Amino acid sequence: MVETTYKHNRTPLIAGNWKMNLDHLQAIAFVQKLAWSLKDAGHSSSDVEAAIFPPFTDLRSVQTLVAADKLQLAYGAQDVSQHDSGAFTGEVSGAFLAQLDCTYVIIGHSERRTLHAESDEVVAAKTASAIKHGIVPIICVGETAEDLDKHGPSAVPVAQLKAALAGVTSASDIVVAYEPVWAIGSGQAATPEQAEAVCAALRAVLDETLGSDVASKTRILYGGSVKSTNIGGFMKQPNVDGALVGGASLDLAEFASIIRFQKHAF
Ligand code: 13P
Repeated sequence: MVETTYKHNRTPLIAGNWKMNLDHLQAIAFVQKLAWSLKDAGHSSSDVEAAIFPPFTDLRSVQTLVAADKLQLAYGAQDVSQHDSGAFTGEVSGAFLAQLDCTYVIIGHSERRTLHAESDEVVAAKTASAIKHGIVPIICVGETAEDLDKHGPSAVPVAQLKAALAGVTSASDIVVAYEPVWAIGSGQAATPEQAEAVCAALRAVLDETLGSDVASKTRILYGGSVKSTNIGGFMKQPNVDGALVGGASLDLAEFASIIRFQKHAF
């Protein structure tokens, strides 16, 4: 079993991105069952932090449940507006998410970059907005299969991270998620070695831009077809501090097993 204080005291983070799945009633049932299952198993959030990212419409219900039952579960939104308020139909501001006690917000997911044409500039503005409202941004970066062929493994994620950090200072609390687009929902995860190589390159960017202190305390997650059977390989890598899980985070037993990787994967 790994020490809980390994990797420079970075607490592993297992984050479940529900995408557009589970309404607020389903979210209540899921969160209750997940919290009970982790509690029954003696799970402690100081060993591995678990977080869920439901749709916006679920967040108020999740907030109420987590607060009322003092659940050891963090949560956040899947996106945030770069604006604080005003005529931006359909958008949700960081101020509103802060009122819902969101700890985190996912920014620049590849589905937002491709389906909603989010540029590096928009990702940088959203990152700055999250920080301004006291919410930790989970900055997503990753290359397509075509990028991988053309530019190699880390060029695109490194460029995306550099661009996203435009409004970040060394005092900011951030999380980075490396999600190769070709591994998302494909069942074909990166190998642990591939993930490690890119996560190490991303940590070098943090070191260059924000200093060694931030670089050593920032958690870098891997995402893309993570399951209970492959999480151990990723978590053994020195620069991988957790996972951003899509499909498998909707399966209660599977997600709980990924969160409890220390119990079965080492
Ligand atoms: P999958 O785990 O379904 O591949 O999705 C990964 C993802 O996009 C998480 O943000």
